[in-house]
Amino acid sequence: MVVVRTHDKAEAARLLAAGGRQPRLARDMAVDLIAARSPAMGSLPIGTRLETLDSEMDGIAAAAAAAVLPGHVDFGIWSGVDRFEYWRQLLAGEGPCGPVLAEASRVVRDQRGAIVGALVVTDMPASEWWAGDPWIPEVFVVSGHQGQGLGGLLVEHAVRACVNARHRRLGLTVSEGNPARHLYERFGFRPFRATWLIERPALR
Ligand SMILES: CC(C)(COP(=O)(O)OP(=O)(O)OC[C@H]1O[C@@H](n2cnc3c(N)ncnc32)[C@H](O)[C@@H]1OP(=O)(O)O)[C@@H](O)C(=O)NCCC(=O)NCCS
Repeated sequence: MVVVRTHDKAEAARLLAAGGRQPRLARDMAVDLIAARSPAMGSLPIGTRLETLDSEMDGIAAAAAAAVLPGHVDFGIWSGVDRFEYWRQLLAGEGPCGPVLAEASRVVRDQRGAIVGALVVTDMPASEWWAGDPWIPEVFVVSGHQGQGLGGLLVEHAVRACVNARHRRLGLTVSEGNPARHLYERFGFRPFRATWLIERPALR
């Protein structure tokens, strides 16, 4: 099997009609920071604190794994991926998303100092579809802490920091079916590009 990547809806429909399987539809979303006002920060749940990203790679990789449980639309994406290496590359700025913007990125820790959430903002390089503005490659809250406002506080902090730094746009990718999209829409993110990843048998 090969995975075909397309932004063209008609091509996606053709591949599916020819027997392709559709493991993932991802939407790139962005918020216009020139139009956005810097959001006021809400308050953290008691016992949690927002801190700068540090080099505690094991803690972040393990916490990220505890955010995406079986049944989540992105669970399958991580199968066979070395999470520790992924996070090492991301935080070292070695991945495709560019160097980390430390002021906009944060971890959330609980009373015991354990990481329960994180959001990473990077300086995404310019390409044919992105003008070289900041990007959120990762945002997560571990499952036991979800739905309490932590994700909102992380996004709020990122938007605020990017507005203050006079960036024009902030983007991210969300899978179709991930309820996280509601959270992003609340902060003014709107979809601007769709990517279909479709499996089809390899041609001989
Ligand atoms: C997405 C995520 C970071 C949101 O963090 P959170 O602390 O649960 O979010 P909040 O409590 O601040 O806000 C809840 C909002 O997020 C959405 N949401 C997404 N996943 C949710 C979940 N598991 N539980 C509750 N709300 C969730 C809700 O629709 C809600 O939006 P609404 O208030 O407009 O209805 C977190 O749920 C998570 O880590 N999910 C798994 C990893 C993931 O999908 N990351 C995003 C990849 S694009």
